[in-house]
Amino acid sequence: MSDKLRLGVLISGRGTNLQALIRACADPDFPAEIVLVISNVASAAGLERAEDAEIPTTVIDHKSFNDRRTFDAALDTALKEANIELVCLAGFMRLLTDDFVEAWRNRMINIHPSLLPSFKGLDTHQRMLDAGVAIGGCTVHYVRPEMDTGPIIVQAAVPILPDDDADRLAARILEQEHIAYPLAVRLIAEDRVTLEGERALIRDGAPSAAALVNPGGN
Ligand code: GRF
Repeated sequence: MSDKLRLGVLISGRGTNLQALIRACADPDFPAEIVLVISNVASAAGLERAEDAEIPTTVIDHKSFNDRRTFDAALDTALKEANIELVCLAGFMRLLTDDFVEAWRNRMINIHPSLLPSFKGLDTHQRMLDAGVAIGGCTVHYVRPEMDTGPIIVQAAVPILPDDDADRLAARILEQEHIAYPLAVRLIAEDRVTLEGERALIRDGAPSAAALVNPGGN
């Protein structure tokens, strides 16, 4: 058996972040492998991406459970049966119970399309535009019971341009999501992330000192 970190990826939709992880894992030197993809939606396009990559998939439809607790218990069982070591939420559109989140504490990460702790929740791109911020981005973080909180592992900053609408901004941020998510997985798999309280410290992380000024100019 390989000594790669065993990932379980949870999706609900199109799965482009899953695709970015699949691509990263295809590199023999990448220190993690996707062992299982779980979707709560049978028609999620991401399932096809997993099947194309010959990764086992499971659909656990939340609608066939009475409550969140029993749904989460089914997720937990599937993840444990596959010996998952790190759960990656990638566009997984269900709120998880506190018990589930605590059971996977520091073994579950999420990607969110904003520079947290700003713009938690849904519809981030339009809200960034409405707020008039000049820089947006994305965040990969460990999951805590409160939505879109938890130690930050990787962030990428993206300028917001005058002609942006929510779709154009989302596309620009998504490109960075596809870089940030595999990077965060790599850092964890290489044991380079330690927590000091609720702060993630990264060893040998090649920190970038470059500033992004938007608008630029002179
Ligand atoms: C991404 O924008 C991610 O940040 C958010 O949900 C979206 C999922 O997109 N959590 P995809 O399914 O990975 O394409």
